[in-house]
Amino acid sequence: MKIEDREPLDDEAIDAITRLPKAELHLHFEGGAPPGFIRDLAKKKKVDLSKIFNADGSYAYRDFVHFLSVYEAATSVLQTPEDFARLCTAVLEQSAENGVVYSETFLSPDFCGGGDVVAWREYLHAIREAAEAAERAHGITLRGIVTCIRHFGPDQARTAARCAAETADDWLCGFGMAGDENMGKQKDFSYSFDMAREAGLKLTSHAGEWRGPQEVREAVEDLGVARIGHGVRAIGDLATVDMLAEQEITLEVCPGSNVFLGVFPSLDKHPIDQLRERGVKVTVSTDDPPFFHTTMRKEYAALAKTFRWDAQTFTELNRTAMSAAFCDAETRDAVLKKIDNP
Ligand code: ADE
Ligand code: ZN
Repeated sequence: MKIEDREPLDDEAIDAITRLPKAELHLHFEGGAPPGFIRDLAKKKKVDLSKIFNADGSYAYRDFVHFLSVYEAATSVLQTPEDFARLCTAVLEQSAENGVVYSETFLSPDFCGGGDVVAWREYLHAIREAAEAAERAHGITLRGIVTCIRHFGPDQARTAARCAAETADDWLCGFGMAGDENMGKQKDFSYSFDMAREAGLKLTSHAGEWRGPQEVREAVEDLGVARIGHGVRAIGDLATVDMLAEQEITLEVCPGSNVFLGVFPSLDKHPIDQLRERGVKVTVSTDDPPFFHTTMRKEYAALAKTFRWDAQTFTELNRTAMSAAFCDAETRDAVLKKIDNP
């Protein structure tokens, strides 16, 4: 249906939508760190990070590649399992305040113990303990996806995949790839994705955030992913869009991130509505919320206003997210109950 033919929503309806229980599938763990959290940690550890902050305290970067280096600089002060446990508490408090009841987060062994499996287990243990405490306190469920970093190259990705395979279970349930999409090709990482698949992990990869439809196809064909991080540039080729719809590949769409980084000039030019109308399974996430000045509530409000999506549409979106979630069936059913009974 054309947007003009849909009923516009008033402020009260939009406010009710922002309060719906939400499932988020695409959240970079370190990317959820509030700038104040990183600044305090840098001060405590006597690391000079002044260059990565604006005068108002927000993160400062010029473009996507610079964003990745600022992200890594911020991450450099997260040095112990306790730092990551505290980060987990801070991130989940924010998510819960935004009505998120289920979240999947990208964790990188590269940042948690430098790829050493013994160290990685310690980081993971600390993060899981903090996540369990947050679940008891706020009713939010977290699951982890080990993520290799594309611009660190295929060899380092294998180390990440080994960590993932060693710790795969109901909690650590996925493997994926983030980082600079303009470096190398999806298939350079097929060994790592094969290792993760054999360990029982579900797969996702960032594709079609910066490169076009071909990149999205390669993620599906060369890595065999069930989900794609972003995938929005598939819109440049309708045959690719139809392939996504037919194969029921779920897109982890992060509209606010895409607009903030300039992938699309504004939300009304963003293809999420077109993709959905053409039958692609789309979901909504924040990516790195403080970096992009967004939250799940802001994402929902902006989508409701721009595309006139009503509460039922958002509930369908959350049901789609849960059917594509990497958790076990029992967790899925428990979260679906919350989504269906707001
Ligand atoms: N790492 C953190 N955020 C990312 C993004 N939007 N794209 C690729 N890698 C990332
Ligand atoms: Zn991302």
